[in-house]
Amino acid sequence: MSPAAPDDRDPPHMRTARARHYLMCRPTYFDVVYSINPWMDPAKPVDTPLAIAQWERLREVYLSLGHTVDTIDPVPSLPDMVFAANGATVVDGRALVARFRDAERIAEGPAYHNWLRDNGFPELRTASFVNEGEGDYLLAGDWLLAGTGFRSDPRSHDEAQEYFGRPVIGLTLVDPDYYHLDTALTVLDEKTVAYYPAAFSPGSRSVLERLFPDALLATPADAEVFGLNATSDGYNVVLPQNATELAAQLRERGFNPIGVDLSELLKAGGSVKCCTLELRRDA
Ligand code: ARG
Repeated sequence: MSPAAPDDRDPPHMRTARARHYLMCRPTYFDVVYSINPWMDPAKPVDTPLAIAQWERLREVYLSLGHTVDTIDPVPSLPDMVFAANGATVVDGRALVARFRDAERIAEGPAYHNWLRDNGFPELRTASFVNEGEGDYLLAGDWLLAGTGFRSDPRSHDEAQEYFGRPVIGLTLVDPDYYHLDTALTVLDEKTVAYYPAAFSPGSRSVLERLFPDALLATPADAEVFGLNATSDGYNVVLPQNATELAAQLRERGFNPIGVDLSELLKAGGSVKCCTLELRRDA
């Protein structure tokens, strides 16, 4: 790929951070004891104390950037509950709580529902169709980008559009390694995304090219280390530290990449974004 051309409409020096409100879940009971995506191998040992230390570091990075981080209590029988992004989609103060595809994670839905209900989100409901929250729903400016193909049911896209009253752009994932939208695409600011083209169907790739002609394109090497499983506040981009080429592209485009090591969580097929649910209160 040739280096990105400077973007006149959005000069790099104009990038501004906006403080975020995140919900996270400590990986106290994290383990890999079942396999619902190709990254999960229950035969591979997991170092839970290391996972906790890596997660604590991520939380500290967010706090040092001025973000608010709330936490939800982990539940002993739910080893994937650390992946808070999957718990809901919260936009304009309205929460659409997840309905998980797999039996192993179904009980996480009510846990997130109760947390949101008890923490100032009265406008909430649980999705009627399989909907894995911000794993598959990413807000980009006015639009909700919505993944399907492996987890969230395409019918959940219509439901989300009706509920949020925002245009939902359906995108089809085709590579099982990138089973959630947030493993293949990250929103950097209202107009800028980065994605891994090979993870999408040809039609969805064309949609992305049409909507985001200035997108950063990740290499296979960056995608494989979950480089796109990142969070951005508009300037600071927290991403897996091994995604070095993506970090260089981000720097070129005026963002501030901050690498973190979440190697233990990658054993379950998750990283930075998976651990982070954004709570958007204001319409
Ligand atoms: N083991 C979890 C699953 O397969 C990982 C979820 C990762 N979360 C995410 N937002 N992509 O469901």
